[in-house]
Amino acid sequence: MGAVRGQGVVVTGAGGGIGAALARGFAARGARVVVNDLDDARIGPLAREIGGTAVAGDASGIVDAARDALDGVIDVYCANAGLASPGDAFAEEEVWAAAWDVNVMAHVRAARALLPDWLERGGGRFVSTASAAGLLTMIGAAPYSVTKHGAVAFAEWLSLTYRHRGLKVHAICPQGVRTDMLTAAGSAGELVLAPSAIEPEAVADALFEAIDEDRFLVLPHPEVAGYYQSRAGDPDRWLGNMNQLQRTWEANGG
Ligand SMILES: NC(=O)c1ccc[n+]([C@@H]2O[C@H](COP(=O)([O-])OP(=O)(O)OC[C@H]3O[C@@H](n4cnc5c(N)ncnc54)[C@H](O)[C@@H]3O)[C@@H](O)[C@H]2O)c1
Repeated sequence: MGAVRGQGVVVTGAGGGIGAALARGFAARGARVVVNDLDDARIGPLAREIGGTAVAGDASGIVDAARDALDGVIDVYCANAGLASPGDAFAEEEVWAAAWDVNVMAHVRAARALLPDWLERGGGRFVSTASAAGLLTMIGAAPYSVTKHGAVAFAEWLSLTYRHRGLKVHAICPQGVRTDMLTAAGSAGELVLAPSAIEPEAVADALFEAIDEDRFLVLPHPEVAGYYQSRAGDPDRWLGNMNQLQRTWEANGG
């Protein structure tokens, strides 16, 4: 609980959903919070509510402005902004590029801007809102699954490279969460995600538990640990089961 008191925290994509819940959670624990989203109208009221600062703009390029707003030091960076990007292998190049840009490269660009200061100070915390789709792969969502796997891999790489230099990394991998994104996930989301969907606040609670326990993987749906194990233990069986789900989805109209 005391781990983040007084710290300077940035949350991207905080205009609603999980990002807003993370921002409120950090503020309630005594952190000083910068909230980011593309549009000022989405974050201004939240910043006022939590006594934080709004920095509007693309999550790929806000580290300097956020650092200024936090008197020069960012302790925690939550790379949370994301794009749902449903679609299959035939999705337009632009869909693949947009998913790659927000779901992966925004994390890479932020880390590049944060690491020199963190390595010099011997500490920092990077929180990646990835997805269970980054561990398991989601039906009907190729660009999303591929880029979320990329987000998990980048978070793992950051952790294994810099943990001895004080960097803490957490990868949040929820299944369905009741936000605008779940609504936009369409019929595949309704079939796979909606039945076990949780509130954004439960995702924030799971992160704070992981911070207290100094744990990398944050699984707000605990059952994901078992799915992840069965995928690793018998990939073909797991793929067969996922294909059953695909066929059910197709039979329901896709
Ligand atoms: N809702 C779910 O079921 C679910 C499940 C697993 C993971 N996630 C992940 O959680 C994160 C938050 O999503 P959410 O569910 O709260 O949905 P959301 O749509 O409410 O929030 C995403 C926010 O990111 C913002 N955003 C998009 N591109 C941006 C950019 N380039 N710069 C700044 N902001 C940008 C959007 O404006 C939006 O406010 C995403 O990374 C998403 O992939 C969501």
